[in-house]
Amino acid sequence: MRVDYSPQSLDPRSFYQLLTAVVVPRPIAWVSTLTADGRTANLAPHSFFTVACTAPPIVQFTSVGRKDSLRNVEETGEFVVNFAPEPLFAEINATATDFPRHEGEFDAVGIAREPSLRVKPPRVAASPVALECTLHSTLLLGNSTVVFGQVVHAAVSEDVLVDGRPDIQLLRPLARLGGNEWSTVGEVREAARIPYRERPAG
Ligand SMILES: Cc1cc2nc3c(=O)[nH]c(=O)nc-3n(C[C@H](O)[C@H](O)[C@H](O)COP(=O)(O)O)c2cc1C
Repeated sequence: MRVDYSPQSLDPRSFYQLLTAVVVPRPIAWVSTLTADGRTANLAPHSFFTVACTAPPIVQFTSVGRKDSLRNVEETGEFVVNFAPEPLFAEINATATDFPRHEGEFDAVGIAREPSLRVKPPRVAASPVALECTLHSTLLLGNSTVVFGQVVHAAVSEDVLVDGRPDIQLLRPLARLGGNEWSTVGEVREAARIPYRERPAG
């Protein structure tokens, strides 16, 4: 037996809650941006986030509604996706508060920044990975805007590298689940993809 839900019979908020409870776990892009005058550095978590294209390297995040991050990206054409690690849990959540636009979360929450190499918005100094992006395009879908950013530079802390590769146990990513739930990485399994010719019979 299954319980059936249709977007027509549920109010949009309830369907949104259902979607975010079942599309899990979601990685968190901790997006830093600058206002057009360059004065205010904004920082906010976005869990509607993934890789959109590999060549050229493009990532995407979705702004549900029109928020400061989206406005800044539209006006400046740049943003940084900072990796969201477990030890920065409280700081990440604190940057999800709806501060007024002129009150940047870096200053309001007390988050140390460092300059980016290729774009103007700063990186989060304590985050182990920064993907510096220039705006590729945006796509308006109903109440949301998908932001595509071309990754023009990736800066990875050597503290999370093992044999030159980012290591999951050192990265310790946070993820978003449904409601107010967050998660960390559980058991990690490795399995190579099975070529068609080598698949087990039956
Ligand atoms: C873990 C987490 C994930 C979030 N993901 C999103 C998201 O994908 N899209 C979105 O619009 N808001 C998301 N939010 C809410 C925004 O972070 C929040 O509205 C924030 O105030 C936006 O900041 P800004 O106005 O400075 O851009 C998320 C919040 C948390 C705590």
